[in-house]
Amino acid sequence: MRWEDRISNYAQKTGFPKCLFVGPDGRAVGTWIMGNDYRVQSEYYGGYPAGYLRRVRALFPDKKHVLHLFSGRVNLEAFPGDTVDINPEFKPTYVDDAQTLARVPLGKYDLVLADPPYSVEDAEHYQTTMVKRNVVMRALQRLSLGAHVVWLDQVLPMYRKDAFEQEAVIGMVKSTNHRFRVVTVFRRRDAAVSHNVAAATRRRANRELEAVRGGRANSDRPISGKSA
Ligand SMILES: C[S@@+](CC[C@H](N)C(=O)[O-])C[C@H]1O[C@@H](n2cnc3c(N)ncnc32)[C@H](O)[C@@H]1O
Repeated sequence: MRWEDRISNYAQKTGFPKCLFVGPDGRAVGTWIMGNDYRVQSEYYGGYPAGYLRRVRALFPDKKHVLHLFSGRVNLEAFPGDTVDINPEFKPTYVDDAQTLARVPLGKYDLVLADPPYSVEDAEHYQTTMVKRNVVMRALQRLSLGAHVVWLDQVLPMYRKDAFEQEAVIGMVKSTNHRFRVVTVFRRRDAAVSHNVAAATRRRANRELEAVRGGRANSDRPISGKSA
């Protein structure tokens, strides 16, 4: 599914304005202003703000097998799927460490929503140690090609560029005195350069080539009109 189609579906399903765009490099970019209803329905510390899951779901109507990673008390009515958390208290589908995911058959999921602790202080609220984001991304390399990871955080995790492509970056604003966050969407990719980034790179290279050729043609012309 192309990002243009994801964005159209988002606008149609949520009724929110089309605040996402596909940039010249083929990436989707934009900002979500979460509005007045920024409460966390479950009241769980760090839980998804109201409306977040509805927005993400509308971007991915094609996905059939969803995994909520760092699931906490995620609202499964808003976005059904399986769950992973290190804390058994929430009765997740898999009690597992996101840094290994040894118990999770990752190959069967085509969409992963990840909401890690953002800092050491946040991790203390969950009585866990802070996760190493790059290690989580390494574990997620076991996803099938084409699967997407929607990562909500204040930090861009380190990832292998030949294993994941960053397809979308969406700023998320709640309200005054709340931290800004960013939703980064990765697609598990083949080592070969992906279609959309390759096409955008080709278009840019062609434009630059034409500009250079045009410039050269102009510089070949005599400036004063006199010929040699
Ligand atoms: C920001 S909260 C997620 C809240 C969730 N999005 C919600 O709406 O309820 C982070 C969660 O990550 C879990 N967690 C922390 N370290 C973990 C790890 N190494 N592996 C798996 N889960 C972990 C915590 O138990 C906590 O529930």
